[in-house]
Amino acid sequence: MNPVNVIAHPLVQHHLTRLRDRRTEPAEFRRVMNELTSLMVYEATRSLPTQDCPIETPLESMVGRRLESGVALIPILRAGLGMLGSVLDMVPDCRVGFIGLKRDETTLQPTCYHLSLPPELSQYEVILIDPMLATGGSAVAALDILVKSGARKIRQVNLLATRQGIDLVQKHHPNVSLYTAAIDRQLDPRGYILPGLGDAGDRLFGT
Ligand code: PRP
Ligand code: URA
Repeated sequence: MNPVNVIAHPLVQHHLTRLRDRRTEPAEFRRVMNELTSLMVYEATRSLPTQDCPIETPLESMVGRRLESGVALIPILRAGLGMLGSVLDMVPDCRVGFIGLKRDETTLQPTCYHLSLPPELSQYEVILIDPMLATGGSAVAALDILVKSGARKIRQVNLLATRQGIDLVQKHHPNVSLYTAAIDRQLDPRGYILPGLGDAGDRLFGT
């Protein structure tokens, strides 16, 4: 099983605290989420395989390095959209797929309402993004879909997680590499992470 990677970098923790703060309004929340996502994805992509790439500089030949495989980026709607822009800036050549999931407020079970994935996922390094890993139900549902669609190498980046969510993902998908900025204390009876940051989708979009 892959260990969970908790990114303790001071800038990551600084931005996460801004997100947690209830006074942070949607415009600032979106901006900070992008900053935080860049730092997280920088760490999560550290182990992407590279290969030799012979090129000519203006002065001579050399062998550089380039990514060995393409990257497929999969945000879980809605809140994953808040992380999309910054990763697109970092990996502009990536393919993007969307998995729309909504948790039922009572049962906390996710329902899939939208799915569009790039073809031939097996050929890509897949990065699944969603700010929140709470019960883990949405992540497991998304990973089930990705694996069924052929994905083999998957990294999952969540800004906040719980031990319960991590355990569920690792039980069902032990080969997925998990990255988070913090593992919070617990879930409240409505399935919200404590201390958390509230409802990520609502705070992003002002709903
Ligand atoms: C949130 C969040 C995750 C999910 C996490 O989405 O963005 O997808 O809850 O909870 P879980 O780990 O218990 O499944 P939500 O279903 O609220 O939809 P939204 O992004 O449209 O607000
Ligand atoms: N989804 C959120 O947006 N926030 C939580 O705390 C849990 C699930």
